[in-house]
Amino acid sequence: MAKSDQSQEVNVLKDIIAHAKEYGFVYPSSEIYDGLQAVYDYGPYGVELKNNLKKLWWESMTRLHDNIVGLDAAIFMHPTTWKASGHVDSFNDPMVDNKDSKKRYRADVLIEEKAAQYELAGEVEKSQSLLAAMGKLMEAENFDSLRELMINEGITCPLSGTANWTEIRQFNLMFSTQVGSVADESSTIYLRPETAQGIFVNFLNVQKTARMKVPFGIAQIGKAFRNEIVARQFIFRMREFEQMEMQFFVRPGTELEWYKEWAEKRVRWHLALGIPAEKIRRHDHDKLAHYANAALDIEYNFPFGNKEVEGIHSRTDFDLKSHQAYSKKKQQYFDPEINQNYIPYVIETSIGADRLFLMTLCNAYTDEIAEGKQRTYLKFHPAIAPVKAAILPLTKKDGLPEKAAQIVEELKYDFNIIYEDAASIGKRYTRQDLIGTPFCIAVDHQTLEDDTVTIRHRDTTEQERLPISDLHQRLNQACSFKRIFEKL
Ligand code: GAP
Repeated sequence: MAKSDQSQEVNVLKDIIAHAKEYGFVYPSSEIYDGLQAVYDYGPYGVELKNNLKKLWWESMTRLHDNIVGLDAAIFMHPTTWKASGHVDSFNDPMVDNKDSKKRYRADVLIEEKAAQYELAGEVEKSQSLLAAMGKLMEAENFDSLRELMINEGITCPLSGTANWTEIRQFNLMFSTQVGSVADESSTIYLRPETAQGIFVNFLNVQKTARMKVPFGIAQIGKAFRNEIVARQFIFRMREFEQMEMQFFVRPGTELEWYKEWAEKRVRWHLALGIPAEKIRRHDHDKLAHYANAALDIEYNFPFGNKEVEGIHSRTDFDLKSHQAYSKKKQQYFDPEINQNYIPYVIETSIGADRLFLMTLCNAYTDEIAEGKQRTYLKFHPAIAPVKAAILPLTKKDGLPEKAAQIVEELKYDFNIIYEDAASIGKRYTRQDLIGTPFCIAVDHQTLEDDTVTIRHRDTTEQERLPISDLHQRLNQACSFKRIFEKL
């Protein structure tokens, strides 16, 4: 990417962040106290959009698959869970400080950024060998050499411009707290860094009580917490965030077929949501975590580059086997079809609700000039738009507000509707464009005579006249999840 393109992209992100704040989507947390880094609050339209995205994911997992059921496990779990999962010993990032600027960085991110620069300059081999060298040193936990690599590559702090780096240290990303009133080591518990472990420890509970047969899945949406060293890029990397994870339990030996199927399915899901194919990239991992035998990221081309939105991992039987060893409770399934006991293998699909939100927002944000006029609007798919329709009486008199209120009453049980009678109709249309409302329904004097309204379409600004009695069906057709589900 050329430098001017890069700064344009940075400006787009700035515009999106400002828009999200000004129009009630996302606010910095506890802003009156100057905020808390990497923590955000969702405003009135943000929470609607996020809830719609979560509902869409939930229903596409649980309703569209009769072999997937839901779960809502607690955030706090027995501390041994995190020993068994490997998080206590190895959920670390390599942290480095610049002694001049006093800024803290992730060493691997700095090196990856350098590799990306090589790639952009067409030096692909150089980029790959740098990443390979980093991978080896990280695996060997050889942080002195990793620091040397940074210095030899001329990696400097963007703020101070110097390579005056501290030594690199491992930093565990889990937040801990104490349960009970006596604070000693045995009372230390963690805020879960992923929701997946709540699913693993409940594998047999769910399998038995819901009488599930392998292959089957367990889906869960919930908060996760990570003490990220570098918190940047708005809600992309947060310290408190939400995950939507599904663990699919399969017969050993069949996992790679299921992995392929789930990878394809999840890419289709993003496309069905209206994300253009050219903005989605599948990034297969070369270097696999010790528990995985295949893994990929589904990336979106954010204004700050191609970045992971969702991960698909073939996690083998690592987690269940490890919980079996630590808990000394068998985590086996008896497969009646082959008359065998085994620990199932697992395919995981894991998407961050906040990253999905950011992708949807970036994709919807449209700033265009039409007929000589600048217009900004959010072109969300109607099924996920925070508000489905705004009912707008042309004036505040002649019985128009009352007629508009009747329409609101008819629609509000099935759709999120806004009533607005202040300001000119043009200004009200603009306001709805800015929050991404797909339909504006104007009630005028003709409405009183023939029970018709005008309906204005957000993306084209075209208007048509429609009987009030058709509105429900029209909104239903446009806003139903079914339109998305049919493309899966
Ligand atoms: N159980 C597997 C797991 O947690 P991960 O790749 O670490 O895998 C899965 O996370 C997804 O969770 C990511 O693709 C991303 O969407 C989201 N995620 C991870 N860390 C995040 C953070 N700090 N802020 C926001 N979302 C995050």
